[in-house]
Amino acid sequence: MIIYFSQGGHTKKIAEKIASKTGDRLYAIELFDPYPVSTLKASPRIGREIVTNDIPKVKKAPKNVLSDDIIYLGYPMFGMDMAHAMRGFLQANDLSGKVIKPFMTSGTATLKMSLKTLKKLAPNSTIDEAFDPQKL
Ligand SMILES: Cc1cc2nc3c(=O)[nH]c(=O)nc-3n(C[C@H](O)[C@H](O)[C@H](O)COP(=O)(O)O)c2cc1C
Repeated sequence: MIIYFSQGGHTKKIAEKIASKTGDRLYAIELFDPYPVSTLKASPRIGREIVTNDIPKVKKAPKNVLSDDIIYLGYPMFGMDMAHAMRGFLQANDLSGKVIKPFMTSGTATLKMSLKTLKKLAPNSTIDEAFDPQKL
C-alpha cells in the first residue's frame, strides 16, 4: 500500500510511479480541515504550523489501507522535515509491525532530515532508510 500526502502534486507523481512499478494501491491521507488546493493559499497555514508546531488532525485510514505488511509512505518536506500532515496521519494511525519504505519530495531537503521524526512517530515499525523509488 502506498500512503501519501501531496499538497502540490509532486509527491503524488512519485507515489503513482511506485504504484506503476509495484502494483500497490494508493491512498491519499485525508485531513479533517484540508489545506486550500492552491499551494500559494495553503502556504501561510503550513508556515504557521511549522512555527507553532501544530499538527493537523488527520482521519483514521480504513482497515484495508493498513492491512499490508509493507507501507510506502510519501510526503513533501516542509520546514526541512516531514510535512505536518503526515505527522498527523502517523499520530492517528498505528503502523506497528509494518515495514515502512519512506519517500519524499523537496526543494533541497533530504529524506534523512525526516527520519528522526518518522522513527519517533512510528516507533514500532521497521524503517527501510535505504529505500529509493528511483531504483525500483
Ligand atoms: C510551505 C512550504 C514549505 C517548504 N519547505 C521546504 C523546506 O524546508 N525544504 C525543502 O527542501 N523544500 C521545501 N518546500 C518545497 C517542497 O518540499 C516541494 O515543493 C515538494 O515537492 C512539494 O511536494 P507536493 O507537491 O507533493 O506538495 C516547501 C514548500 C512549501 C509550499
